[in-house]
Amino acid sequence: VTAEKAGFDHFMLKEIYEQPKAYRDTMLGRIAEDGKSVNLQELKMTEDYVKTIRKVHIVACGTAYHAGMVGKTVIESLARIPVETDVASEYRYRSPIITPDTLVIVVSQSGETADTLAALREAKRNGARVLAITNVVGSSVAREADDVLVTLAGPEIAVASTKAYTSQLIVFYLFGLHLAGILGTKDEATVAGIIAAMNELPEQVESILENAPVLKQVAESISHHKSLFFIGRGVDYAVAQEGSLKLKEISYIHSEAYAAGELKHGTLALIEDGIPVIALVTQEELYEKTLSNIKEVKARGAHVLGLANAGSEVEVGKSVDELFAIPKTLPLLTPALSVVPLQLISYYASLALGHDVDKPRNLAKSVTVE
Ligand code: G6P
Repeated sequence: VTAEKAGFDHFMLKEIYEQPKAYRDTMLGRIAEDGKSVNLQELKMTEDYVKTIRKVHIVACGTAYHAGMVGKTVIESLARIPVETDVASEYRYRSPIITPDTLVIVVSQSGETADTLAALREAKRNGARVLAITNVVGSSVAREADDVLVTLAGPEIAVASTKAYTSQLIVFYLFGLHLAGILGTKDEATVAGIIAAMNELPEQVESILENAPVLKQVAESISHHKSLFFIGRGVDYAVAQEGSLKLKEISYIHSEAYAAGELKHGTLALIEDGIPVIALVTQEELYEKTLSNIKEVKARGAHVLGLANAGSEVEVGKSVDELFAIPKTLPLLTPALSVVPLQLISYYASLALGHDVDKPRNLAKSVTVE
């Protein structure tokens, strides 16, 4: 068993450290040699079909759903196609408006989640084309979808998903660029810039991993608390949700993720002296707004850890109690970096509390019943 964990204490930690490789493997062969376009040869959908897509539905459960939330921003911003996201357990019960010009994207690490599979079937029944993003080539979801984009994360054993999530993000970036290439929604220089920045992500993740000891300390202080909050705007909000879920899953500490601007509409009432707040501040055009939300929680006694971009330490640093900087990348790509410190915080919090990190109570790796 130790050998399987390659010297790591837990599968989760091993899988967190495998992320640079998972990013590289997921990108390998899918980027043109000149770095100017993506090349998703495995897709069967034609260019003519892509031009008929009027809307996209992204449907998934749990962590895969959180990847889909980022995917929505990626597709809307790169391809300018409207995207809705749904958790799979809700999708088919709300009589979603699925038309033949709807592309339904299901995201599933295992490819076996019952609700996600049922959503896929519902989509097909209504004449939509289905693209599956999955980590398991021969899975049910992969077999039944019209198109498949595989995440090359390798087997994920820990119940708490890490490298599967980040590989799903990479696939969304690739697919968004693919759509943009066909629809002409981004010029060549912009596409090349995004690809160049994607190529830097693996090393940037490595540099975050080198700072794990700092995050271990943060986690240990968090582990004494009963409750905490994650806040952010835009893609930072999507990552906040994933950070909160990860912490709940394995540390059993209650937390909530909030769109930073929404706090004052209720949740601010829960902020009391000493409560930890993890604030994601990576979207430059939203700095000012999020910093003013941080002031609101600090005024009520919150202890704020800021997750910000390298280079913004001074600007963000003066508003928070502690700051962890992630390497500088493009705003759309920050989730592929900012989630990594949150994964490590969850891991070390669970460890500090003596929980079974890889097999949290009440949870299963794959939920194949409804
Ligand atoms: C379970 C797992 C989660 C996972 C979710 C969806 O609840 O514990 O980690 O995100 O299922 O799984 P899938 O295999 O469809 O991505």
